[in-house]
Amino acid sequence: RDRIVVYEALAPYVKEASQESILFMTIGLIVTAVIVVVSLRNLMYPKQESNEPPMVPYWIPFLGSAIRVGTDPIRFYQECQEKYGKFFTITLVGRKMVTCLGAEGNNFVFNARLADASAEEAYKGLTVPVFGTGVVYDVQNSVLMEQKRFVKAGLSQENLRAYVPMIIKETLEYFERWNEPKGTDDIHEAMAELVILTASRCLLGDDVRSQMDESFAKVYSDLDGGFAPINFIFEDLPLPANRRRDQAHVKMRNFFLSIMQQRRKNKRTDTHDIMQYLLDNCEYKNGRRLSDQEAAHILIALLLAGQHTSSTTSAWALIYLAQNPEIFDALREEQIRVLGSLDAEVTFDSLKQMPILDNVVRETLRLRPPIMTMIRKVLRDLPIPGTEYVIPQGAYIQAVPMISQRDDGYFKNADKFSPFRWEDYDKQQKERDDDVVDYGWGAIHTSSAKSPYLPFGAGRHRCIGESFAYVQIKTILATFVRMFDLRLHNNKFPEVDFTTLIVTPVKPLVDYTRRDQKK
Ligand code: HEM
Repeated sequence: RDRIVVYEALAPYVKEASQESILFMTIGLIVTAVIVVVSLRNLMYPKQESNEPPMVPYWIPFLGSAIRVGTDPIRFYQECQEKYGKFFTITLVGRKMVTCLGAEGNNFVFNARLADASAEEAYKGLTVPVFGTGVVYDVQNSVLMEQKRFVKAGLSQENLRAYVPMIIKETLEYFERWNEPKGTDDIHEAMAELVILTASRCLLGDDVRSQMDESFAKVYSDLDGGFAPINFIFEDLPLPANRRRDQAHVKMRNFFLSIMQQRRKNKRTDTHDIMQYLLDNCEYKNGRRLSDQEAAHILIALLLAGQHTSSTTSAWALIYLAQNPEIFDALREEQIRVLGSLDAEVTFDSLKQMPILDNVVRETLRLRPPIMTMIRKVLRDLPIPGTEYVIPQGAYIQAVPMISQRDDGYFKNADKFSPFRWEDYDKQQKERDDDVVDYGWGAIHTSSAKSPYLPFGAGRHRCIGESFAYVQIKTILATFVRMFDLRLHNNKFPEVDFTTLIVTPVKPLVDYTRRDQKK
């Protein structure tokens, strides 16, 4: 009887609850059914115009192939290439992305005409809040080309020569913290911390470097947080991270402006950094001088463009060396051959005589190029030469040199880390006799975009930081091999994180042994 009373008392609630849950279940079922139908349709009949490059089917509406691209892009793109050829379309978080592979694909994207495809339109939502206005992708392409000319001229041979001792000093000081005879540490974390110090000393100057403390690190990290992949997809969402990014941008710019003012007051001209070059030398073709604010924004752009690219490359290089200790030995032998001993000073000129060191960096960039894809937005319907395909206006095109760089057709045993392959490769290269073009920051061969190996891109948007990056990474490695022997911790080669905008190793632990322990 008691039980019946309780049931009766509960009945209205149970009825209400079950009515609610039936409603929720019905909505849930309808939503699931819609997703399943849409997914099946996408999978069986992906939406596209008849002359567009073939569409890769996908299950999840809107996200499209994002999960495959974020987890195993190498296998995904290789499989697509086998099935559809060098040009195919994927859906990537609501975007139609025509993927262009191989040397032909690289050439198509990098040599696309300004009226046809735009890097600015593809990147500005992500970059302008971080770099600031009036520079890079916030200006007309012709202005960006002039700004690249300023920076390229600032990275002169004379300045690069002056950077080598600075980088050695920073590296020696940084690794004082790995002070046990043996230890285990995260090599990516170490390289990220070291590269911001070396890059700041070289590009920004000793006055900036001497003021870099924890508060600078916080501002830098908040600014860097603006490069979250979500900002690539949705412009300027009102997220706390974006608010922190905007505040950090203002702080960083004001910091640089105050250093510039101090330099003017003290009439300082004795430095080799880019800040000084931008202050003293830069005038646009129309006679207007580069403003201090533009200079500050260019410096922010350079710092961020070089940071993750160079630090991950240094980390990957050391990971490959830890896996191949005989190349560690070869690097030391090379230094002894060039310099006479491991105590002699490494200089800018001696670095040029070390091909194994050069090829270690080159090979690392072949297997682990930090920038996986380079993207342009299509401004008007764009036919792909030699095919029937036409890419519709509003779609995106992407080059993925990482795939041609790992293609056995271009590189024998392409998945193997082998710096010595470049000796043969260089011998086979013929003299170029094609057109030379100057987009405003230096002459380049148009055929360079047809290469399967393009870790620094090609064409008008090609990297102008390559020479600095090489000097920086090679100097760090040359100093490091003198100080340490390295092995992979538990012999484990790190996993790769493809979900960040720069391809990074996941917690790469290494076991080090100090070779230069102080007595
Ligand atoms: C452009 C890679 C270091 C400054 C690029 C591009 C790539 C690249 C692939 C072309 C992007 C595109 O076409 O969409 C790398 C790698 C680096 C490196 C792999 C190091 C290992 C640096 C450094 C700096 C720098 C150290 C500055 C000092 C730039 C600039 C551009 C650029 C200004 C031009 C962007 C444009 O014209 O649109 N880089 N970079 N990079 N990079 Fe680098």
